[in-house]
Amino acid sequence: MAENVKQFLCVWPFGLKGLVSTAATLVFFFFLVACAALLNWVDIPLIRGTAFGQANFTSPSSYIHGERIIYPLNCSDYVSSAQKCPDNYPSKFEPGESTSEACPDYFRWIHQDLKPWETSGITKEMIERGIPGADNRLVIINGSVYLEKYRPSFQTRDLFTIWGILQLLRLYPGKVPDLDLLLFTGDTTVVMKRDYEGPNATSPPPVFHYCGDKGSLDIMLPDWTFWGWPEVNIRPWEQTLRAIKEGEERIKWEEREPYAYWRGNPNVAADRVDLLKCNRSDENEWNVRVYTQDWLKEIGQGFRNSRLEDQCTHRYKIYIEGGTWSVSEKYIFACDSMTLMIKPVYYDFFSRSLMPMQHFWPIRNNNKCRDIKFAVEWGNNHTREAQAIGTAGSKYIEEILAMRNVYDYMFHLLNEYAKLLRFKPTVPPKAQRVCAESMACSNKDLCKEFMVQSMVKSPSDKLPCTLPPPYEPEVIRASLEEKEKITKQVETWETENWEKLNKKQ
Ligand SMILES: *[C@@H]1O[C@H](CO)[C@@H](O)[C@H](O)[C@H]1NC(C)=O
Ligand SMILES: *[C@@H]1O[C@H](CO)[C@@H](O)[C@H](O)[C@H]1NC(C)=O
Ligand SMILES: *[C@@H]1O[C@H](CO)[C@@H](O)[C@H](O)[C@H]1NC(C)=O
Ligand SMILES: *[C@@H]1O[C@H](CO)[C@@H](O)[C@H](O)[C@H]1NC(C)=O
Ligand SMILES: *[C@@H]1O[C@H](CO)[C@@H](O)[C@H](O)[C@H]1NC(C)=O
Ligand SMILES: *[C@@H]1O[C@H](CO)[C@@H](O)[C@H](O)[C@H]1NC(C)=O
Repeated sequence: MAENVKQFLCVWPFGLKGLVSTAATLVFFFFLVACAALLNWVDIPLIRGTAFGQANFTSPSSYIHGERIIYPLNCSDYVSSAQKCPDNYPSKFEPGESTSEACPDYFRWIHQDLKPWETSGITKEMIERGIPGADNRLVIINGSVYLEKYRPSFQTRDLFTIWGILQLLRLYPGKVPDLDLLLFTGDTTVVMKRDYEGPNATSPPPVFHYCGDKGSLDIMLPDWTFWGWPEVNIRPWEQTLRAIKEGEERIKWEEREPYAYWRGNPNVAADRVDLLKCNRSDENEWNVRVYTQDWLKEIGQGFRNSRLEDQCTHRYKIYIEGGTWSVSEKYIFACDSMTLMIKPVYYDFFSRSLMPMQHFWPIRNNNKCRDIKFAVEWGNNHTREAQAIGTAGSKYIEEILAMRNVYDYMFHLLNEYAKLLRFKPTVPPKAQRVCAESMACSNKDLCKEFMVQSMVKSPSDKLPCTLPPPYEPEVIRASLEEKEKITKQVETWETENWEKLNKKQ
């Protein structure tokens, strides 16, 4: 097993070596340095391809003589230049098209997440107050990224999140403004609303994080899995999505098992352990088939049973939160089986726009088994309708989470955030410059492979989409009420059905 584990150890670039996350990684790091000469660096040369699209361009900088610029990634070059990040190339972004489309509606939550600082703006003092709750401080100046690590992150969460931000800068060179932000990569929310209420309340510190709930003020940022999660063999989102779509083709909806499926690690949440009780037993048939995932065993067996593309085998798939939100949501929705969503407490950057009975079937947390049994029975009686919800949910996820939208969301989020800054960001004394070269060239195996796969290879030939205005508070309220009404309706159906059945017996 040690063999297998070794390859999941990703490392930070050389300048940040004192802060790698575990002792094992540290050992591996020295191993890496010692063997640097033997490593099989993947050199990606500067290729000049033919320009995409049909338009004629008048010397835009992302094209040279009508040829599209492809960013180089030359690790020998990086190593021989004393591991110095190259100067930004190109420094300017001039897309071929000057018009842009409207962003999806869920981008409006950007305004909502930044609302606490709408009038006060964001001062350096506010950011510094947030440091105890953060893992990293990331500063962007003139398109270069500087990072200060305060503490280790779980596995490679921060590494791949920051890799994602570096890709955004490659997609829109020269467009991301100077900024200074804090990032938290754990599961639990960090900035509690209740600590910043009342007459003498101070402004909350702005902290970027992956999930939020009613009681928190964390700012939503897409999580690391869009660029990869090597520890559990989850490839970057584009590759994973493609694989799930191929998996989906393998078994037609009608031919899938007519039950609700879930696979995962139950030991992270009491509600997940509770879900195991709904599994098929001699006494009960709740139409549920759950399987526990033993990650250590999976690592040892080369992930034979955990491949996401092999999990589109049942007509219904259950989504249940882990400790807080779960990155599994997009993978579950991506398969066109109908998603049975156990009422979540947390949200991430896109999930607030999912609608019950349009994209998923709502399930009560305190009535799991009965609600799932009913949903499955209903679906098997109304296959066309159930399939339509499954297809709509999967189409919606594919569309709103196209990588272009994920980058555009990050772009607008960072842009709106930077507008609120009341100071000129400067490089913190302990921060180190990081770049795609320093990260990709310091790594090997799966870590490097995922980085190379998810790397932005050219500047965009389009402008980012146009950010829609904020939601009016009434619109948010109406939407929440609508969701609540539909969910209540489904609950009533279940209760009526249950009572009818029990009267019969
Ligand atoms: C682009 O420009 C060339 C020469 O200037 C011209 O022959 C060609 O038709 C143009 N292509 C388009 C798609 O406008
Ligand atoms: C990478 O850089 C090295 C050293 O500067 C150079 O010799 C080599 O040709 C480059 N490789 C590619 C594929 O461009
Ligand atoms: C950023 O660019 C400005 C203007 O070109 C320059 O004065 C400044 O020193 C640069 N800052 C950094 C940290 O590179
Ligand atoms: C707010 O501050 C004032 C003046 O310092 C103090 O008298 C008052 O008790 C404080 N109120 C609360 C709720 O802390
Ligand atoms: C649930 O039931 C299935 C089928 O009977 C079984 O294979 C599986 O191991 C059970 N899951 C758990 C967690 O016990
Ligand atoms: C499904 O159809 C069966 C047979 O017609 C019926 O007894 C049952 O009540 C239906 N269940 C639901 C939830 O529609």
